[in-house]
Amino acid sequence: MSKSVKPAPPTTLVIFGAFGDLTRRLLMPALINMTRLGLVGGDFHVLGVGIDEGNDQALRDALGNFDAKGGEGAGEKGDAWARLKDRVGYLQGDFTKDDVYAQLKSRVSGNVAFYLAVPAKFFGEIVDKLADHGLMREDAHAFRRIAIEKPFGHDLASARALNARILAKVSEAQVYRIDHFLGKETVQNIMTARFANMMIERVWNADCIAHVQITAAETVDVGTRGKFYDATGALRDMVPNHLFQLLAMVAMEPPASFDAEAIRNEKGKVLKAVRVYSPAKAKRNGVRGTYTAGTVKGNAVPAYTASADVAPDSRTETYVALKLMVDTWRWAGVPFYLRTGKAMTCRDTEIAITFKPVPFASFPGAPADMLPPNRLIIQIQPDEGLSMDINIKRPGLEVATAPIALDFRYADAFDIGHLTGYESLIYDLFVGDQTLFQRADAIEAGWAAVQPFLDLWASDTSTPELYEAGSMGPTAADALLAHDDHSWHELAPAGQTVP
Ligand code: BG6
Repeated sequence: MSKSVKPAPPTTLVIFGAFGDLTRRLLMPALINMTRLGLVGGDFHVLGVGIDEGNDQALRDALGNFDAKGGEGAGEKGDAWARLKDRVGYLQGDFTKDDVYAQLKSRVSGNVAFYLAVPAKFFGEIVDKLADHGLMREDAHAFRRIAIEKPFGHDLASARALNARILAKVSEAQVYRIDHFLGKETVQNIMTARFANMMIERVWNADCIAHVQITAAETVDVGTRGKFYDATGALRDMVPNHLFQLLAMVAMEPPASFDAEAIRNEKGKVLKAVRVYSPAKAKRNGVRGTYTAGTVKGNAVPAYTASADVAPDSRTETYVALKLMVDTWRWAGVPFYLRTGKAMTCRDTEIAITFKPVPFASFPGAPADMLPPNRLIIQIQPDEGLSMDINIKRPGLEVATAPIALDFRYADAFDIGHLTGYESLIYDLFVGDQTLFQRADAIEAGWAAVQPFLDLWASDTSTPELYEAGSMGPTAADALLAHDDHSWHELAPAGQTVP
């Protein structure tokens, strides 16, 4: 963590959904890491709220038992958990009823952050009740903030309605809309790579860049998430949030300062510049797919439609590829290709920037259009790093060229492997830094850009194209790029570079 390590001010974190999966798998490991790193001190408290029967001890037992995946080594975990656990409490109650808020009022004082780790349908109601019970009232000595997980809305209209409902009761400065991709170190590095390097930012425009590809390929299949996933699909689950955050980092203009609002202004502006397609254009620029039975990393995966809690005739997509345009001077004419899918051949989240070919070259046997273009790959996960494809002279008497990759792997230089990604987001929530959180206008701009695809796929009778589990996705996604004479950057398993 690159922050100057100064403990956050004394805070109580109230977690709605105390016994839930998110709390156990991600929030608690992050809070333990924060305790270990001194990002929170002995004046930090956790109060879980939930419907499950139990008391303080029951919650401590449930949370202490977590699988430390993404967390630190067992010994250190034990030590930090031993220090934190007596400051973890539980309030049992139904958060759709007023009673629990009255009790909450008598249990918290001073700085309080409320974390909504609950299904999205409760977000509006919880915020209303917190505000109606006076729990969101701040003063000069105490902040009151709300952290809201995704999904923030399920389309443009519902996202707008949720923003309006929340902002009728609390101010934007109190709302921290979480996108966990922004907690990833390498996502934050995109801004540094661009704005701390003259040689990158100077060529970061339509004069030099041919196209941008943003990929989030996953090997996991829908597994036990059928109920949520079948009502959601790959587009809603990944694009207006995670992939658009990456797009905003790549495409935003340099902010005038590194203040949260200056950065959020630029991200908001560029997301509003993503072209909103007509239905006919959406049809030409979007591909959806669903996986059939196959093998992923040596394991048999059943077809999506044979998964638990998925309708056998489901038309929900597990893969999506889009060609988007960003209508600004900087990006005029540069396609942004986005793709994401489940049950694919390997896990690979990356941004591939392909530069234009050199205009002229007289190397024997390598006319300009035969030289491979320069390419910058920002590898988000796994195997975090940056790599740049350039052409060099092949050793020997002949003047011949050879493509090579300049490769930087984070793991070779730094230790970034032991955090969950939530540490920096929760720390920022406590210190009041909204840089890595989504503002209402940016959320709505993201939904506006994907709405034509949602409408199209809800209204037409076609079904998603099939792709085999363990493959690179449907062939129509290849055709989307082939139409522009481009091709997808090949997905590479961790540690292996594709030539
Ligand atoms: C979540 C989606 O928001 O992000 C999941 O709901 C997806 O479907 C996950 O698997 C991907 O996150 P990460 O950090 O594993 O790349």
